[in-house]
Amino acid sequence: MPADDTTRGRLWGGRFAGSPDEAFDRLNDSLPVDRRLWPHDLRGSRAHARMLGAQGIIPAEDAASILAGLDQVGQELGSGEFVFQPGDEDIHTAVERRLTEIAGDAGRRVHTARSRNDQVITDVLLYVRETLEAQEGLLAELMSALLDQAESQIDSILPGYTHLQRAQPVRLAHHLLAYVAMFDRDRTRLRIAWAASRDECPLGSGALSGVGFPVDREAVATELGFERPSANSMDAVGSRDALADYLHFAAQLGVHLSRLGAEFVWWSSEECGFVEVADSFASGSSMLPQKKNPDAAELARAKAARITADAAGLGGVLAGLPLAYNKDLQEDKHFLFDAIDTLDLLLPAVTGMVATATFRPDRMNDATASGFLAATDLADHLVRSGTPFRRAHEIVGALVSACVAAGHGLEEASADQLAAAGLDPDDLPGLTARDSVELKQTRGGTARRPVVDALDAARTRLGTWA
Ligand code: ARG
Repeated sequence: MPADDTTRGRLWGGRFAGSPDEAFDRLNDSLPVDRRLWPHDLRGSRAHARMLGAQGIIPAEDAASILAGLDQVGQELGSGEFVFQPGDEDIHTAVERRLTEIAGDAGRRVHTARSRNDQVITDVLLYVRETLEAQEGLLAELMSALLDQAESQIDSILPGYTHLQRAQPVRLAHHLLAYVAMFDRDRTRLRIAWAASRDECPLGSGALSGVGFPVDREAVATELGFERPSANSMDAVGSRDALADYLHFAAQLGVHLSRLGAEFVWWSSEECGFVEVADSFASGSSMLPQKKNPDAAELARAKAARITADAAGLGGVLAGLPLAYNKDLQEDKHFLFDAIDTLDLLLPAVTGMVATATFRPDRMNDATASGFLAATDLADHLVRSGTPFRRAHEIVGALVSACVAAGHGLEEASADQLAAAGLDPDDLPGLTARDSVELKQTRGGTARRPVVDALDAARTRLGTWA
């Protein structure tokens, strides 16, 4: 049998005598992972074929046949009629094999001046770009859900915690806006990854050294929406920086979603009761009839492990890899797609959970009505009348200790207890949670004015996305 592109059913079969071992095939084939790249593979092949025809590298009729053939391949893949064959080791191979069945020798010309090495990274960059554009929208929806809740809860006050010990009262809106700030930074990282994914077009780099045909790299780059053709062929086929940038964005967003999830788990506990997750975002227990579990929040908490592992996984594959393309790089998509799919699952669910949650100002009031949340404000009050802060801290500390011993909060301190600690019972500031938050008037603080300002600023900023 002549050595052609169907030898052993492989594009690269000419050099080989026997068939690949099945165990090797199972290891080597990436089709199950990369078949989702078919629309991007077709886009890349269309741009490449058009350019080959325009440059006279292949006959114009062949370019036309390739384009028509690619349309048919796209129609078959889109409708599910496409029949994958055992030799289709990845999506690039499958598309070229089918194109050749349809277009004959014209199909055999599509890979002129191209390698799967420049092809695969081009496809993946297109995929990353498209993903980021969609996920930016999902992130914006989450942020607006948080802003809506913050706005409707502008005067709800709950305990703020450090070490998960009640520390000082804060507006719920302020607490939610902290997450909006985190997600806003995630968006900055998203934009960095997006820019990386559309900066340099790898096509025209060939296997590693460039191609020996007068290709028009600018035209291909422009058609595919890249800023420019890549500057170094070895870097273009051997690097995965844009994927690492995506995973860096995804991992940090995953961590933020995890912390928000943890917050909802804790707030929705019977012990806190500050929020009730909607039935549609909770599940029951198969044994305990009374249970309503905040599963969406718990899964958000857990998924960060997976996404940060994906980011570390890609780093592990890349580190120590000599230039240029190595088959190791095929593993990049495993980590990339896992992180993408995880965020695609998580973002709408977390948004829905936030949007449908019912906050419980009554429970927040109960939690801030008594205790020691105003201790720092009392010390600050002494400082305002001249007591050095460290001394004021000691005085209030002694009072807290007396109140703890007597089994009540600061709000029930008697005139004797106050006097014993060195405080004037007739000169006390308001010690309610509302008094406390209203003291924090400066930018970034939790008083009503800076929180309303922060809300407005966040809304304006979100409105400028797109
Ligand atoms: N399936 C391969 C990947 O995902 C495509 C590139 C193969 N290149 C090669 N020289 N074997 O990386």
